[in-house]
Amino acid sequence: MYAPSELKTIPSHVAIIMDGNGRWARKRGLPRVMGHREGVKRVREVVRAAREIGIRVLTLYAFSQENWRRPQAEVSALMDLLQSYLVSQLDEMLSNRISLRAMGDLARLPETVGNTLRDTIERTSGNSEMILNLALSYSGRHEIAQAAKRIAADCLDGSISPGDVDEELFSSYLFTADYPDPDLVVRTSGELRLSNFMLFQAAYSELYITPVLWPDFNRQEFMKALMDLQGRERRFGMTSEQLKPCTVNGS
Ligand code: IPE
Ligand code: IPE
Ligand code: MG
Repeated sequence: MYAPSELKTIPSHVAIIMDGNGRWARKRGLPRVMGHREGVKRVREVVRAAREIGIRVLTLYAFSQENWRRPQAEVSALMDLLQSYLVSQLDEMLSNRISLRAMGDLARLPETVGNTLRDTIERTSGNSEMILNLALSYSGRHEIAQAAKRIAADCLDGSISPGDVDEELFSSYLFTADYPDPDLVVRTSGELRLSNFMLFQAAYSELYITPVLWPDFNRQEFMKALMDLQGRERRFGMTSEQLKPCTVNGS
């Protein structure tokens, strides 16, 4: 059992691809929606843990743009779960001073969900302990394309010039403009891919891929991911010696 006190460094931004709900349900002979329902319980558990640990930004990939292609009944069930999650968690977000944000093509969400989402974001906007950022109807490529479109428009109206466009300016047109890049990207259920998630921002994120299915990804599994990060050397292209100059010559 890991305790938060064992963490030497606390990542500023953790992003999680919450995958494996369907497989969890299938293993039990249950309909897929039961996996999603159990998955919501882990969302609550992991959000609480992240808040306690002191992580500043927690991004959860809850629904991709590609997920709209799933059977209509599953999409509806997921939207209903999102709606009830938002309603049921408002008090806890307020008492734990968590600010809710969302990123993605939010206009595609059903009207009720969109309204509840906007309302929750507004009501929690004054909170400053942690940002809970939900990726909803999200696509990394769409995010990059919309940034390029807005940059082009700003060049045309003269508010910026093409020469101003660098990585930093580009980042400021992404949905994540206010947050640091994720230190850690977690993917549950073992798939070795990003599935269109944070393509620009994850350039130097550490990856943690676990076979554990999302509905089994409890507080201890989350702690395990954070502990795994502790032993990593983030070199950002440099050499190990550059990062630890005092250990050159084996001293
Ligand atoms: C993740 O679980 C939830 C969403 C993508 C919305 P899945 O539903 O993708 O579960 P698997 O991958 O089929 O097991
Ligand atoms: C990624 O999971 C999206 C979310 C977790 C919301 P998917 O299950 O949609 O990804 P693929 O289809 O296996 O790549
Ligand atoms: Mg999946």
